[in-house]
Amino acid sequence: HKRVAILISGGGSNMLALLDSMVGDHPARPCLVLSNDPAAGGLAKAAARGVPVAAVDHRPFKGDRAAFEAELLKPLEEAQPDIVCLAGFMRVLTGEFVSRFQGRMLNIHPSLLPKYPGLHTHSRALAAGDAEHGCTVHEVTAVLDDGPILGQARVPVKAGDTPEALAARVLEQEHHLYPAVLRRFAEGRRDPVHLG
Ligand code: GAR
Repeated sequence: HKRVAILISGGGSNMLALLDSMVGDHPARPCLVLSNDPAAGGLAKAAARGVPVAAVDHRPFKGDRAAFEAELLKPLEEAQPDIVCLAGFMRVLTGEFVSRFQGRMLNIHPSLLPKYPGLHTHSRALAAGDAEHGCTVHEVTAVLDDGPILGQARVPVKAGDTPEALAARVLEQEHHLYPAVLRRFAEGRRDPVHLG
C-alpha cells in the first residue's frame, strides 16, 4: 500500500472522508494525521480510528516558518509517506518544504481555481455574482493554491445564498472529490476528475 499522511488544522471532515475511503482494495492506507494545532478536533477523530496522530503547535515559533517547518518535518518524515494530503491545513508552506514532497503533495481548496486563491472564497464568489462555485484538488507547488489541477467539483450558487450556506454545499462535494482524486493519484493517474 501507498502510505498517506494528512495535514489538518481544524475539524478534519475532509481528512475523515479520506480515511474512510482507504479501505478494501484501495491502493493506499493512512500513516499519519498531523496538525499545526494540538487542539484540532480532527486529531481525536483520527486517533479514535486507530491512525497515528501528531501535532506541532506553530504559535511558539512566532512567524519563524523555517523553524516551524523543521519541527513539522520530523514526525512527517518518520511516517515515511508516499503521498501527503493537505486537508484544511491553514499554514502557508515554504517552497523549501514543498519541494521535499514535489509531485506527491495534494491540497483541496474551496474554489474553482484559478479563481479565488487564498481565503474567504465563498464570500468572494457571492460578491462577484458567480452562477457556480466549487472546489479543486491540485498538486502543491511553491505558489499558493497553484499547481496542476487533479480534479474539480461544481455546485450552483442559489438565490439568497449566504457564505455559510454556499460553504456547506461546497464542503459536501469536497468529501466526494478528494477521495476520488486520491484513489486515482495513488494508482498513478494524473488526468483530472470532474464532478458536478
Ligand atoms: C475545507 O473547506 C477546505 O477546502 C478548506 O478548509 C476547510 C476545512 O474543512 N481549506 C482551505 O481553505 C485551504 N486554504 P475540514 O477541516 O472539515 O476538512
